[in-house]
Amino acid sequence: MIEIRGISKSYGATPVLDSIDLDLRQGGITSIIGPNGAGKSTLLSIISRLQPMDAGTVLIDGQPVGATPSDILARRLAILRQDNAVAARVTVRDLVSFGRYPHSKGRINAEDIRHIDQALAFTELGSLENRYLDQLSGGQRQRAFIAMILAQDTDYLLFDEPLNNLDARHALATMTLFRRIAGEFSKTVILVIHDINFAAAYSDRIIAMRDGRIHCAGTPADVIRDHVLEEIFGIEFTVHEIGGKRIADCY
Ligand SMILES: Nc1ncnc2c1ncn2[C@@H]1O[C@H](COP(=O)(O)OP(=O)(O)O)[C@@H](O)[C@H]1O
Ligand SMILES: [Mg+2]
Repeated sequence: MIEIRGISKSYGATPVLDSIDLDLRQGGITSIIGPNGAGKSTLLSIISRLQPMDAGTVLIDGQPVGATPSDILARRLAILRQDNAVAARVTVRDLVSFGRYPHSKGRINAEDIRHIDQALAFTELGSLENRYLDQLSGGQRQRAFIAMILAQDTDYLLFDEPLNNLDARHALATMTLFRRIAGEFSKTVILVIHDINFAAAYSDRIIAMRDGRIHCAGTPADVIRDHVLEEIFGIEFTVHEIGGKRIADCY
């Protein structure tokens, strides 16, 4: 479990996270939704210690992240950031191999290769493994970064807007893959996601953020409701229930 206690963060005089308390339970898929600027990326980057917090603590399975050595943290938790800048002259396979660094320390063994090959297969990138990143489409590059996170083989996988640039088929394949990772491999998947209908269909829990606070958290049935979505996004929504799925319409 990831326990978030009293996290606050400001940029200059602007508060971005306001005393957040949240338990991210082990297992399953938890999706974080909310408008641009709500503080979703800031929250993920503080959990994974990419950014310092002004106040509060984060415990991962009881261990404070602030006191966990980086190499140990990198074997427990992996994060795909929203914006990934990496040298273009890196091949897909090299990028995915970087995910093994916390385990291999640069000396790749058979176990590392197994994880790299599996991650390439899961993301349908086997045929592109020798391409350089600047020879890929935006969606292919996004899948290569997802493969890197999978190869890291951590208990907790955090993805900030992983469906960016993905076409419908690959968005669906990625969400199906996350379900498998959470189900078959008993991992904990935490996503920031803008597609409310994907969030509703694939998540065990949804956390709705607004203005640096948790607006509400619960099952998709708890959170994907007209009035909740209207409060979060400030526009009208109609939620339909079709074949047991919640479909949010704001058009
Ligand atoms: N490095 C930064 N310096 C100043 N303000 C920032 C910085 N990063 C984010 N912010 C601001 O913090 C707020 C929350 O940002 P972010 O966590 O990226 O939101 P979200 O991911 O929900 O869109 C936004 O208003 C954003 O402009
Ligand atoms: Mg963001």
